Amino acid sequence: MILITGATGTIGSALTKILTVPYRAMTRTATHNSIQADFNNPASIEKALQGIEKVFLLTNSSEQAENQQITFVELAKKAGVKHIVKLSQWAADKDSPVRFLRYHAAVEEKIRESGMTYTFLRPNLFMQGLLSFIQQGKFFAAVGNARISTVDIRDIADAAAAALTQPGHENKTYNLTGPEAITHYQMAETLSKVLNKNITFTDVPPAAMRAAVIQAGFPEWQADGLIEDYAHYAKEEAATITPGVLEATGHAARSFATFAQDYAPAFL
Ligand SMILES: NC(=O)c1ccc[n+]([C@@H]2O[C@H](COP(=O)([O-])OP(=O)(O)OC[C@H]3O[C@@H](n4cnc5c(N)ncnc54)[C@H](OP(=O)(O)O)[C@@H]3O)[C@@H](O)[C@H]2O)c1
Repeated sequence: MILITGATGTIGSALTKILTVPYRAMTRTATHNSIQADFNNPASIEKALQGIEKVFLLTNSSEQAENQQITFVELAKKAGVKHIVKLSQWAADKDSPVRFLRYHAAVEEKIRESGMTYTFLRPNLFMQGLLSFIQQGKFFAAVGNARISTVDIRDIADAAAAALTQPGHENKTYNLTGPEAITHYQMAETLSKVLNKNITFTDVPPAAMRAAVIQAGFPEWQADGLIEDYAHYAKEEAATITPGVLEATGHAARSFATFAQDYAPAFL
C-alpha cells in the first residue's frame, strides 16, 4: 500500500487525481477516504504508516518542516517502509544560503542514511504558484529579469506517480524543470496573449516583497525563506533546463504556454 502525505496540497491533490492504484491519503482532518494524521503527532503517523510499503513525503516549507520530515523518516523505517518518494526542491544543498534548500538536503541525507530506497524529486519554481500571485492582472516579485526554468505541477505529480508505481526509479534524483527558461516579464506576456487580458509584472525590491508576504499572513521564517529563494532565482541559479521530467515520466515537460491555456479559466 502507498501512503500519500500532503494529500490536500498543490502537488498531493494533483497526485491523488492521477494515481490508478490503491493508496491511503493522509490528511489532518479525517474524511471518509483518508486517514487522519498530523506530522506533529508521532503516534498518529505510526498508525498511518501501518502496512505501508511506499510513501510520498511532502510538507509545506515551515520552520517545523525539517523536524517533521526527519521524524517521519525514522517512523517510516521502523514501520518497514521500503521506498520513499520525497518532494524536495531544485538545488537542495546543505550549504545553500536558502533555508528551504538546506532543510530539503538534510532530509534527503537522512533518507539516504536510513537504507530505504528513495526517489528525490527536485522541482524548480511551480508555474501554478502564479494562480495565487496574480491579483487584478498584476503580480510582482524580487526577481528582476532573471530566467527560470519553471515547471508545471502536473509534471511533478506525473513523476511522483511513476516513482510510486513503476520500477526503475530507485535511488534516483530527478531535477524537474520546464522545457524553457523564461523571465517573469515573459510569463506576463504569454498570459496576456492567452487570456486576452493585460497582465503586468513589476520587479520590486526584496524588502517590499517581504512586507507584502508578511501582510498576506506568512510567518516571518517563511517570508525570509521566500526572499532567500527569490535572491537565488534572481541570480539565474534556476535557469538550467533538464531532462528530468522526460526521464521520470517518459513524456516531455509541459510549456508555460500550455499551462497558461489549460489554466485560463482559473485565471479569469
Ligand atoms: N512553490 C514552489 O514553487 C516550490 C518549488 C519547488 C519545491 N517546492 C516545495 O514544495 C513543497 C510544498 O508543496 P505544495 O505546494 O504541494 O504544498 P502545499 O500546497 O502547501 O500543501 C502542504 C500539505 O501539507 C499538509 N500539512 C501541513 N502541515 C501538516 C501537518 N502538521 N500534518 C499533516 N499534514 C500537514 C497540508 O495539509 P492541510 O491541508 O491540512 O494544511 C497540505 O496537504 C515544499 O516542500 C516546497 O519546498 C515548492
